[in-house]
Amino acid sequence: MISGYSPQKFKVYDEAVDPAAVPFRTISSGRKIPAIGLGTFGSDHNSPQDIADAVIYAAGVGYRHFDCAAVYANEDYIGVALQEIMSGGVRREELFVTSKLWNDMHAESDVVDACKRSLQDLRLDYLDLYLVHWPFPNYHAPGCDVSSRSPDARPYVHEEFMKTWRQMEKLVDMGLVRHIGTSNMTIAKMKLLLHDAKYKPAVNEMELHPHFQQLDFYNYIASNGIVPVGYCPIGSPNRPERDRTSQDTVDIEDPVITEIARVHNVHPVSVCLKWAVQRGQIPIPMSVKPKNILSNIKAVVADPLSEKELKAIARIDKDCRLIKGQVFLWREDQDWQDLWDVDGVIKK
Ligand SMILES: NC(=O)c1ccc[n+]([C@@H]2O[C@H](COP(=O)([O-])OP(=O)(O)OC[C@H]3O[C@@H](n4cnc5c(N)ncnc54)[C@H](OP(=O)(O)O)[C@@H]3O)[C@@H](O)[C@H]2O)c1
Repeated sequence: MISGYSPQKFKVYDEAVDPAAVPFRTISSGRKIPAIGLGTFGSDHNSPQDIADAVIYAAGVGYRHFDCAAVYANEDYIGVALQEIMSGGVRREELFVTSKLWNDMHAESDVVDACKRSLQDLRLDYLDLYLVHWPFPNYHAPGCDVSSRSPDARPYVHEEFMKTWRQMEKLVDMGLVRHIGTSNMTIAKMKLLLHDAKYKPAVNEMELHPHFQQLDFYNYIASNGIVPVGYCPIGSPNRPERDRTSQDTVDIEDPVITEIARVHNVHPVSVCLKWAVQRGQIPIPMSVKPKNILSNIKAVVADPLSEKELKAIARIDKDCRLIKGQVFLWREDQDWQDLWDVDGVIKK
């Protein structure tokens, strides 16, 4: 047990959603993933204990899909939570647990060790999904300012990324992970990867919310049989200060979203989540509040949006990327857009 942390008890709550009633997506292997997961990034506000307790509560109201990452610095606590959930009767095969390789562990010699560390922390024999968190090997200290740059930061170099990817493929062959995937990619980078991969990414995790719909990239990956997992699905209202700019817009205050919420008599957050699942992506909202954790899963099992409402939301895309990734830039004089290959060309 982690000293000082005694997890809350797992129980199935009366108001729980039946996990079998939660919509799912099927990945290329045939494995079904619950179409909503719980995010576990505490955004500098929530302690590892809070997040681990949120995981236990979420499982008690029907969540089976958990989006974790080594860099969230709470996998050891979440491991205790997962054990509590499984001791309470949920079988390992019912869970879908993701972790992610952090940017300072891309070296060929580090990938297997990094995965084993996450497995040890999460107290699991295998991961359902392991993602390369960012396609850059650029480390930055947790919580650092957006102007901070790592002295040895580099641009995307496909040959280097493929060395990392080969190790990700090895993890599948070793039986340590069931599926591998990517995160924070672009069409240009994904084209190269799809050309060279032995095992193609099963999912791509990307920022997706009504004000940032990434239509071209979304269509590109969907047409290649890759399932889109959407982070910041409600616009990450409590994201760290370093991830905020004055141009950012607020999805849950958009008049189209608030009007649809009024008609359905739900919170605007529920509208964002219904839209996400009905569009076809898997939202992974984070919350530590039982009321919100419950209402988020309830939102995606009942009272769907109409075609007209879905079309209205499709029209409010503002191309507003919230997680710009400035700290991963490799030169002082760069703009964050350089990370995202906006004109289709990978910046050097
Ligand atoms: N792959 C990547 O690079 C990447 C990047 C960012 C995030 N992620 C993943 O995506 C997850 C979600 O992203 P996120 O946490 O940034 O953003 P988000 O899920 O859009 O927003 C989370 C925030 O919304 C609040 N919230 C949740 N449900 C609510 C409700 N029903 N009503 C009102 N407020 C509600 C939560 O506060 P309360 O706790 O107060 O409810 C929380 O602070 C992360 O936790 C992480 O797992 C991945």
